Amino acid sequence: MRRSPASLTSPPSSAQNTQTTQKPSQSRLSQLSSHISPMASTSFSADVVPQAPEDPLFGLMAAYRRDTDPNKVDLGIGAYRDNNAKPWVLPVVKKADEILRNDPNLNHEYLPIAGLADFTSASQKLVLGADSPAIKEKRVTSLQTISGTGAVHLGALFLSKFYRPNQQRTVYFSDPTWPNHFQIFSNVQLPYLTYPYFDKETRGLDFDGFINTLNNAAEGSIIVLHACAHNPTGVDPTQEQWKEIAKVIKERKLFPFFDTAYQGFASGDLARDGWAIRYFVEQGFELVIAQSYAKNFGLYGERAGCFHFVTSPTSDADSVTARVASQLAILQRSEISNPPAYGARIASTVLNNPELFAEWEANLREMSGRIIAMRKALRSKLEELGTPGTWNHITDQIGMFSFTGLTEKQVLKLREDSHIYMTKNGRISMAGLNTHNIDYFAKAVDKAVRETQ
Ligand SMILES: Cc1ncc(COP(=O)(O)O)c(C=O)c1O
Repeated sequence: MRRSPASLTSPPSSAQNTQTTQKPSQSRLSQLSSHISPMASTSFSADVVPQAPEDPLFGLMAAYRRDTDPNKVDLGIGAYRDNNAKPWVLPVVKKADEILRNDPNLNHEYLPIAGLADFTSASQKLVLGADSPAIKEKRVTSLQTISGTGAVHLGALFLSKFYRPNQQRTVYFSDPTWPNHFQIFSNVQLPYLTYPYFDKETRGLDFDGFINTLNNAAEGSIIVLHACAHNPTGVDPTQEQWKEIAKVIKERKLFPFFDTAYQGFASGDLARDGWAIRYFVEQGFELVIAQSYAKNFGLYGERAGCFHFVTSPTSDADSVTARVASQLAILQRSEISNPPAYGARIASTVLNNPELFAEWEANLREMSGRIIAMRKALRSKLEELGTPGTWNHITDQIGMFSFTGLTEKQVLKLREDSHIYMTKNGRISMAGLNTHNIDYFAKAVDKAVRETQ
């Protein structure tokens, strides 16, 4: 079990405020100026509002944009790119867009607080399975959110306000995890720890470390789980391992919080990528789910997402669901009033039309298939070059990202020598690779690894 680096409540690096100490001459100057014109003073001096560091990922994107080298490669942000490194509007999304634009009844009225009902009910079916007993037994309540981030936030806020299993209410994240988890839960004053996840030696799952930490977690702790295509490692538990994880979570009376941002995008198969959540629901857990449509619909900027609360099959399940729904509605109202309509309308049009749904599945297979092909190509190129180390993890991992095992030094060298951009932890967005740049990338990696041995 690893305690978060700073304290139980403060987020790590990217979220941490950096204290900037004023030089004596500067503070004397501001004192003098506040004497001269007291009205011009601020309540937000640097000791109250220190300069925060730039978000590392968005900073990386900006550095890539500034680079004028014709061979530059962007492997930073987790957004799908086609084989020409261009953003891809899914053909099925274009169709849905056309349908919406030609709908004479379309208007720009507010959506209800919980969002578009056709969208939230289709989202339940997508994530839990159309035949889920939890849906039939009305044990699920769902609210449309500002994409996956908004869903994680609404869940965190709800738990912070209403979940009282013990004094501490610790949240556990995988080590590593999507960095925004730290910030979102810290913002609602929930303290966190991490559970071991990535094994640096095998570049796979540290299953024993994971289970061991769950076994020692305080009863009632919240366990944040990536449903599939773990970000940033691309390492997922097998179905047998998920069963064991569920068993320990049940025994230890922990609370599962699923984050699903890649359903269908990971394997191309919606049921397979949704398996873990459906298994937990089958086991009768009370749990929450944060669902994003950014990657699997390519609706990144449209911010379509959904938050689901699922209660256990108990005799008063419908009253629990109704009470929780009423409080979630109040939280949503105070935060965003009601969610944005456009992205949800697009997704809803597709999810509720069998023909378009089938076309969406084909689009998903195209995206995931291209990424899987890039994994195979990268591994075989590195093996052909005889690049020191083992490279099987590139094809063992799944989804948008690969945790390459490249060191920070190698990452910086790749940026300086070859204009290749990736996060400092060696994570690459596989979607940034294509048949035009994969040779260039493999050779650059080979060189960086050999020169920094
Ligand atoms: C694990 C995880 N959760 C949630 C999200 C939420 O993304 P968005 O708010 O764009 O839907 C992401 C996106 O990268 C993610 O990787």
